Amino acid sequence: MSLRAVKGMKDILPDEISKWHRLERAFRDRVEGYGFREARFPIVEPTALFVRTIGETTDIVEKEMYTFTDRGDKSLTLRPEGTASAVRAYVQHSVQGREPVTKWYYIGPMYRRERPAKGRYRQFYQAGIEVFGDPGPYIDAEVIDMVVGFIASLGITEVEVLVNSIGGAATRQNYTAALLAYLEPHRDELCADCQRRMDANPLRVLDCKVPRCVEIAADAPPILKHLTDDDRAHFDRLQEALTKLGTPYRIVGSLVRGLDYYTGTLFEVLGKGEGLGAQNALLGGGRYDQLVKSLGGPDTPAIGFAMGLERLLMAMPEVESESHVDVFVVAAQPTVRAEAALLGRELRETGLRVESDLRGGSLKSQLRRADKMNTRIAMILGESEVAAGAVQLKDLRAQKQHTVFRKEAAKRAHEILAG
Ligand code: HAM
Repeated sequence: MSLRAVKGMKDILPDEISKWHRLERAFRDRVEGYGFREARFPIVEPTALFVRTIGETTDIVEKEMYTFTDRGDKSLTLRPEGTASAVRAYVQHSVQGREPVTKWYYIGPMYRRERPAKGRYRQFYQAGIEVFGDPGPYIDAEVIDMVVGFIASLGITEVEVLVNSIGGAATRQNYTAALLAYLEPHRDELCADCQRRMDANPLRVLDCKVPRCVEIAADAPPILKHLTDDDRAHFDRLQEALTKLGTPYRIVGSLVRGLDYYTGTLFEVLGKGEGLGAQNALLGGGRYDQLVKSLGGPDTPAIGFAMGLERLLMAMPEVESESHVDVFVVAAQPTVRAEAALLGRELRETGLRVESDLRGGSLKSQLRRADKMNTRIAMILGESEVAAGAVQLKDLRAQKQHTVFRKEAAKRAHEILAG
């Protein structure tokens, strides 16, 4: 059998890439407008990094990681997400000594061995941000407002913003007791994983996907009722700020998210439009105030989110793709092919994107290629044009053709393209 891509991993071919570029460019522009700077981390990290941050009893660590032993007998893992690497890098490079607040963004592939489905892949792309050093709650609101505005700017209008707070260590301690008291009578009905989670990390039971566990979790006492005064005040200020910013949101007390490092504010944005299917979480994020310290860094509050780019692309309205070429240079006779290459270079030097078919071929077949590429302009060069220092400039949309001086050709093309 011929070799194929790994199940759940997709090729992205040039016909699709302009949508990706548009999305990535829009993301960079948006977050750079808020002071974020790009960081790039390795795709492979020590396995222990993910076990210690995402958490031993999470689905990601228990079931989904691509883990392997390298030739030096080290256990390595393809990153399932970006926050762990960002925190490792922040600690490793002692970034806290350089600036009080650090704002990073990243774009790249992540790996989770989940069951492939529409909108769920084993290699998928995330664009995310992380803020270190600001305890919130105003930065929490700004980050949520930023990403909600970003999604709207992509033309994705049907979304729902969910927020919750799971508080810090003291809240968690209060709540765990209440949660266990509720879960204990249901212990035998829970799946085997959740029975184990009850002892290791009861909050994880609330994030289980097994239908009976979901039903039981739905009636669990809400964590919001157990917030300490400080955690409650943080959550109240966050809501006030979101209201002031005009960001619509819905409080969902059952939102706990699938990673262990969270403390306090949590949020997700769901896409409600057609085209997404069941995998409708466009992004997720939250505060993780203990994580930097737990990886050996100073006590540093932090918040971030990551968006699934494939899901955003599915939710974005279709726009007609633009041509990747401005001018197609046509050599009318085989004798002018080198001259056509020279004309192409002259045009490119003025910033035009130029293609030609230097294999030659008939005038008709070359113009057909220009048409297929949806090119706006063809420049036709024959022996008589070369002798006269001219070219035939054809506006393929207006179907108009003129002879222009060769030294004027680039300027004319720019004028036509500018409309
Ligand atoms: P997450 O909720 O695991 O959070 O993933 C964030 C987003 O990545 C999801 O909302 C979804 O859009 C996309 N995603 C996740 N898994 C897949 C998949 N298998 N196929 C396609 N898309 C997927 C995190 O990863 C956290 N690191 C977010 C964060 C950053 N929290 C704080 N800072």
